[in-house]
Amino acid sequence: MADEERQIKSKERVRERGEVFTAAREVNAMLDLVKDETENIDATFLEPACGTGNFLDEVLRRKLAVCQKRYGKSAADYEKFSFLACTTLYGVDIMADNVERCRERLYETWEASFGATHRTVAASATGVVTGVPRSDFHDRVSAAVKKVFEKNILLGNALSMKRVDEKQNDLDEPIVFTEWKLALGDKLKREEYRFDVLLDQGKKGQVQEMSFDLFGDGETSSHVNWMVDPDDPEKKRMIPAPSKVYPLIDYWRIGDE
Ligand SMILES: C[S@@+](CC[C@H](N)C(=O)[O-])C[C@H]1O[C@@H](n2cnc3c(N)ncnc32)[C@H](O)[C@@H]1O
Repeated sequence: MADEERQIKSKERVRERGEVFTAAREVNAMLDLVKDETENIDATFLEPACGTGNFLDEVLRRKLAVCQKRYGKSAADYEKFSFLACTTLYGVDIMADNVERCRERLYETWEASFGATHRTVAASATGVVTGVPRSDFHDRVSAAVKKVFEKNILLGNALSMKRVDEKQNDLDEPIVFTEWKLALGDKLKREEYRFDVLLDQGKKGQVQEMSFDLFGDGETSSHVNWMVDPDDPEKKRMIPAPSKVYPLIDYWRIGDE
C-alpha cells in the first residue's frame, strides 16, 4: 500500500496528535463541494493541519488539469500558470515528517505533469496531467516551485500560530505566509503576512505597532499591522499590512536565492 493510502502511521501518533489521514474518496467528495474554487487557478487554499497533503495534492491536480487545458500547448505559459497554481496552496502541520512529505509530494505532482522535453502526450488515467512540454529553462522553474512549497508548507502549531521545532515545541517565531502575485509579464510581487495578524486573533482590524523587517534588508522598524486598503475609494476599510515586501522579481528566479 502506498504511503499516501495509509490513514494511520502509528497508534501513538493518533493518540498524541489526532493523526488520521483522510481517504481519497472523502477528499474528493469534500472538494467537490467547492468544485469551482478547486478549478480556479487563483483561488487560495490553506489547510491548517495538512498532514502529508491529501487535500492540497488533490487541489493541485485539479488546478493543473485546468492549466493543461488552457496553456498545455505552450511550454512557457504552462510553466508560468502551473507555478502560479502552486503559489495558491498553503499548509501547516506540527509534525516535521508530514511537512517534508507534503512539500515533496506537491512538487512530485507538479513535476509529473510534464513529459519529456517538448513532447506532448495525452492526460494520464490517474488524473495527473502528463506530457505538457518543458521550456529550456524548466530547471529554474522547478527550483522556483520547490522554493514556493518551502515557503507555503510550514512546520508550525496552527493553534498558537507559531513555528515549532522538531519536537513540536513552540518557537518564539510567528507563522508567516507569503503572498505571491503576478504583477506584469513574468514579474512576481512577493509579500509576507503574519498568520496571527491575518486572523487578528478575533479582534478584526485592531491596529498595533509591531517590529517588521519590511524591506528584507535586515533593518527592523516599527509598523502598524493593519492599514487602510489602498483599493477602497472611501478609505474606510482596513486590511492586514505586510510584515515584509520584496522587490519585483522574474518568477523563475525565485529559486535562485
Ligand atoms: C486528522 S490528521 C489530518 C491530516 C490531513 N488534513 C488529512 O486530512 O489527511 C490531523 C493532522 O493535524 C496535525 N496537527 C495536530 N495538532 C496540530 C497543531 N496544533 N498544529 C498543526 N498541525 C497539527 C497532525 O500532525 C496531523 O497531521
